[in-house]
Amino acid sequence: MAPASKSKRSGAVAKPTGRKPKTAVRSLRLKPAEAPKTSRIIAICNQKGGCGKTTSVINIAATLAAMNQRVLVIDLDSQCNATQGLGIELNEIEETICDVLLDPKAHSLADVIVESPYANLHIAPGSIELSEYESRAANEIGRENRLKKAILQIREHYDFVLIDTPPSLGLLSVNALNAASEVQIAMQSHPFALDGLHLLLETIELVQEELNPELKISGVIVTMFDPRTKISREIVDEVCQIATLKGRVHKTVIRQNVKLTEASRLRKPVMYYDDQCSGTEDYVQISREIAAQSKAAPAHTKAQPPASKIKKQTSKNART
Ligand SMILES: Nc1ncnc2c1ncn2[C@@H]1O[C@H](COP(=O)(O)OP(=O)(O)OP(=O)(O)O)[C@@H](O)[C@H]1O
Ligand SMILES: [Mg+2]
Repeated sequence: MAPASKSKRSGAVAKPTGRKPKTAVRSLRLKPAEAPKTSRIIAICNQKGGCGKTTSVINIAATLAAMNQRVLVIDLDSQCNATQGLGIELNEIEETICDVLLDPKAHSLADVIVESPYANLHIAPGSIELSEYESRAANEIGRENRLKKAILQIREHYDFVLIDTPPSLGLLSVNALNAASEVQIAMQSHPFALDGLHLLLETIELVQEELNPELKISGVIVTMFDPRTKISREIVDEVCQIATLKGRVHKTVIRQNVKLTEASRLRKPVMYYDDQCSGTEDYVQISREIAAQSKAAPAHTKAQPPASKIKKQTSKNART
């Protein structure tokens, strides 16, 4: 299908959604982040359901875009929550990332990318058909490489590619880990969160060994943190002690905040719903941490971003 429009800044192909792109939230006074030298492809992973992967993808993507970074979100989950949460109507979509994975000769990634209602932010929409990808691709050669190959064709158009993954460690998550330059683990500060973490770390290690030696764990995003409870703090401390994750847990934790759920019901990033709530503060601050990782490796030894109004506002959600 012929592309309907081109992104002004990136030149990447994107079809308009019929809405006028929004600009950054002015009251937050977000400074433009320094663009990474090569695009960063970040898979947000955890096979545990409901731990905040999609919420993190939507809100980090929106914040980075508002910081003038060119961002692409790839929705690899058949629930399509990232697609819908960024204001895309599924019935307006003609081609999806599933078409690219199933038939890469007929569909390139550039064919399926659409503009979001937000400036600098594009989406490769998900589809319910992704739930069948595993069985439909079962006998296909190169099935773990499909996403990696597709991203290669468009990566120069973006500073950040964020991949939302499903709650499983199947073929779609392996495609995401194989395509990514880094993985950010989303982890709820809940006692059950540690169950299965070793399996995720083992899967990442296997992908590093067999498919993608460049892959690194660049961060752990702690979500739904309740600063009033001892257990929340204990879980974060325990994760910080896991050898592979030492020094990688982001300083900013995402506190529990009902505004995040309200915003997702309205299908918008929280910063466009309530720019004063703790959900906005936390996601702005963690996005700044992630953007600052672009300057040098290893990610977790990065200096903090320069002081600003936002940093002052968010000092209470940083781990001590
Ligand atoms: N910090 C938070 N505070 C309160 N609610 C939150 C927070 N983060 C996420 N939620 C809510 O928790 C639910 C699950 O979040 P989300 O959909 O992001 O998880 P997920 O890991 O993507 O789930 P799945 O594995 O099903 O894809 C959603 O209703 C979301 O609005
Ligand atoms: Mg999700």
